[in-house]
Amino acid sequence: MRILSGIQPSGALHLGNYFGMMRPAIELQSQGEAFYFIADWHSMTSLTDPALRRRYTLDVALDFLACGLDPVRTVFFRQSDVPEVAELTWMLSTVTPMGLLERCHSYKDKVAKGLSFNHGLFAYPVLMAADILIYDSNLVPVGRDQKQHVEVTRDIAIKFNELYGPTFVLPEPQIREEVAVVPGTDGQKMSKSYGNTIEIFGEEKVLRKKVMSIVMDSRTPQEPKPDADKNLAIQLLKLVAPADVAADFEARLRAGGLGYGDLKKALFEHYWNYFAPARQRRAELAANLDYVHQVLREGAARARAVAGQVLARARRQAGLD
Ligand code: ADP
Ligand code: TRP
Repeated sequence: MRILSGIQPSGALHLGNYFGMMRPAIELQSQGEAFYFIADWHSMTSLTDPALRRRYTLDVALDFLACGLDPVRTVFFRQSDVPEVAELTWMLSTVTPMGLLERCHSYKDKVAKGLSFNHGLFAYPVLMAADILIYDSNLVPVGRDQKQHVEVTRDIAIKFNELYGPTFVLPEPQIREEVAVVPGTDGQKMSKSYGNTIEIFGEEKVLRKKVMSIVMDSRTPQEPKPDADKNLAIQLLKLVAPADVAADFEARLRAGGLGYGDLKKALFEHYWNYFAPARQRRAELAANLDYVHQVLREGAARARAVAGQVLARARRQAGLD
């Protein structure tokens, strides 16, 4: 079974990305042949600073490797290192009905917000279809927001197969409904766009400040808190502390007598320790960037070997050979 997913290099990765996407993706490595890539072409639809793109691309590579992506088992690469994808995108776009793209939520949301949008944003699902189809992917683990794009991919593949004969494998989305949405410091979904993130890696002082800024109510420490399970710090503590420790803090908060400041200090310590081994690995990787670049180069070579075969099949079927 081939598993494929991509993540855009659009900023430092946070706890929402880690628990919602990275950890499940890393766990899936043992279930099949995983292909994970950094979607730098996709990032061009919203990010136009070359230096930032370079930095974020390297950050994503470092973060994934530090958190346990195994580059021997998994094919880890940069989207733009596989130019075959661009050629397939064109071929797919010629069988994609306009109406299919016009129905896509992500594009409609941007239009509704009155944002100026480019053709790339409109055609984004076709590029994503090429990403998926060019590796004969069976399973595509994504967040709920990307489900429609995988359905569009299936529709495009069906259309191509009908017109030109059996060519592409139909992928299945795997939606992680079971992964609760990780809340940010303000209680909304943790997201770069809301400025409420706690990053996986970064400076201790900055991150401590972010943890201490998690929004609480104005009840006194002594007051019992029957809604302790809804407390943001408790919800985050459950992700980074052993279950019995988190349960103990929740019970103390519920009973009254535990101050929010002390709770947040404990959260910070557990969060900081949780990522300590990964932080150590990340520092080692950052001091050895040649190795990181080599991983991406080798990943690209392995990805291109597959992409070349599937593209040749598509060319043959379409009379381009
Ligand atoms: P952001 O909202 O910060 O821009 P992205 O949309 O780039 O994050 O998400 C990248 C991946 O991380 C997706 O698979 C998404 O489902 C997951 N993810 C992002 N934020 C959260 C969150 N708060 N809880 C769970 N998963 C999340
Ligand atoms: N569009 C995805 C996102 O923003 C990233 C992505 C690009 C992707 N190509 C993909 C995900 C192919 C899965 C498969 O999160």
